[in-house]
Amino acid sequence: MQVCVITGAARGLGYSFAEAFIESGSTRVALVDLSPDATEAAATNLSEWATEKGIGPVEVVAYPLNVTDERAVQESMGKIVEKWGKIDCILTAAGVVHNYSSFEYPSERMKSLYNVNVHGSFYCARAAAQHMMALGTGGSIIFISSMSGRIVNWPQLQMPYNASKAAVRQMAASLACEWAEHQIRVNAISPGYIETSMTGPIVEKYGRGMLDEWIRGTPMKRLGLPEDLKGAAVLLASDASKFTTGSELVIDGGYTCL
Ligand SMILES: NC(=O)c1ccc[n+]([C@@H]2O[C@H](COP(=O)([O-])OP(=O)(O)OC[C@H]3O[C@@H](n4cnc5c(N)ncnc54)[C@H](O)[C@@H]3O)[C@@H](O)[C@H]2O)c1
Repeated sequence: MQVCVITGAARGLGYSFAEAFIESGSTRVALVDLSPDATEAAATNLSEWATEKGIGPVEVVAYPLNVTDERAVQESMGKIVEKWGKIDCILTAAGVVHNYSSFEYPSERMKSLYNVNVHGSFYCARAAAQHMMALGTGGSIIFISSMSGRIVNWPQLQMPYNASKAAVRQMAASLACEWAEHQIRVNAISPGYIETSMTGPIVEKYGRGMLDEWIRGTPMKRLGLPEDLKGAAVLLASDASKFTTGSELVIDGGYTCL
């Protein structure tokens, strides 16, 4: 897993996964996110962080793009392979959530959510897999689904998000079977409630009672932190997991056990 690509990497879980890959030996890391400034800043911060920790040498390069733009995705994957010769692992953390009741949900917003969470994840995985196949290297693809793909979050309303994350789980399992003969492993991580810029605005919209409700439903009695997911990503990316495909790691502090 020398060469890793992470989408949604400018902040939150994606950024933390990039740290995890660097900590566990990745030497070339491509960050994908929407804003050029934020993606460049994340690349600079990660490089400085690695140097401060005495890890290195590590190359961290920003590839700002919208994952819903399939041509831009293909171009960037091509550039990454041109630069570093291969892609060992791609992790797709770019994602969005909206909170509306189903009757109030603007259809165009719903389409845009599916475009990012489902189609965008697929475009990135397929573009990387095409290079893995052409080069005969195999590789690891890690989709970020959610416990929302298995249970209904409550009381906030987010039907399309939940459905999109169920689609991501099933996409991972389907592609795992389809691409196994090429030694491309495809797995999913399904986080529970994690403290990031995604969950903060939901709590602001619905109030402190929402946060209390989430914690009440989590046996570990807290929200997760981005670093709580690092081990799952490293496990699935690693060559030590060469027979692990089509699996889903639910990392939710026990939420879905109840
Ligand atoms: N935070 C949680 O509690 C939680 C729980 C389960 C699953 N997840 C999933 O984890 C992933 C990361 O979430 P997060 O909490 O870090 O959220 P976040 O909002 O902090 O980060 C998401 C990143 O994705 C980027 N992004 C959004 N649309 C994009 C697009 N079209 N093209 C490129 N980049 C785009 C954003 O710019 C942002 O940097 C998401 O897929 C989310 O659904 C999060």
